[in-house]
Amino acid sequence: MDLFEAIERRHSVRQYTPQPIDRATIEKIIAAGLHAPSACNFQPCEFIVVTEPAQRKRIAEVAEYGQFIATAGLCIAVFCKAGKWNLEDGSAATQNILLAATALGLASCWVGGDNPHCQQGIPHVLSVPAGYKLVSLIAIGHTNTDTTSPPRRPLSEVLHWEKW
Ligand SMILES: Cc1cc2nc3c(=O)[nH]c(=O)nc-3n(C[C@H](O)[C@H](O)[C@H](O)COP(=O)(O)O)c2cc1C
Repeated sequence: MDLFEAIERRHSVRQYTPQPIDRATIEKIIAAGLHAPSACNFQPCEFIVVTEPAQRKRIAEVAEYGQFIATAGLCIAVFCKAGKWNLEDGSAATQNILLAATALGLASCWVGGDNPHCQQGIPHVLSVPAGYKLVSLIAIGHTNTDTTSPPRRPLSEVLHWEKW
């Protein structure tokens, strides 16, 4: 799939089928995350892939707005070594992962991790050592749903040439 097609096709899906995702596909998706830019090329991201249903259920119980993680094929928790740019670095990796999943025909949804509830609960569930910050939880799976993104603001409204 062409990059622009993946960008246009990507949208948040919150309903998944139980079909599993094979290891080679998952590794390809994580490699896309690793190819994202990072400040000073520190490459601070760590990716925890959670396929096991009981563990996904525990994550869903902590992530108030990510209940559907319990029914997705997998969840990727993106952590970054705590530092000045962990949110930017982790977000760049997260977007690459969403686009890679789309290009591979999978549905996904970004669940924000930078909130007190997730910052406290998710590292505990996933046995993450001190010094790492959760940036996002990404639900990925197969879907039967036929949803699309909400409409975007028109280009003419957001595009400024040379100055505001
Ligand atoms: C930083 C960030 C945090 C998000 N957190 C959640 C979340 O906790 N739960 C959720 O269902 N969607 C979450 N989303 C997805 C947005 O709701 C979604 O991207 C937005 O509504 C636009 O829809 P689209 O992704 O289909 O284009 C998040 C997206 C971003 C970028």
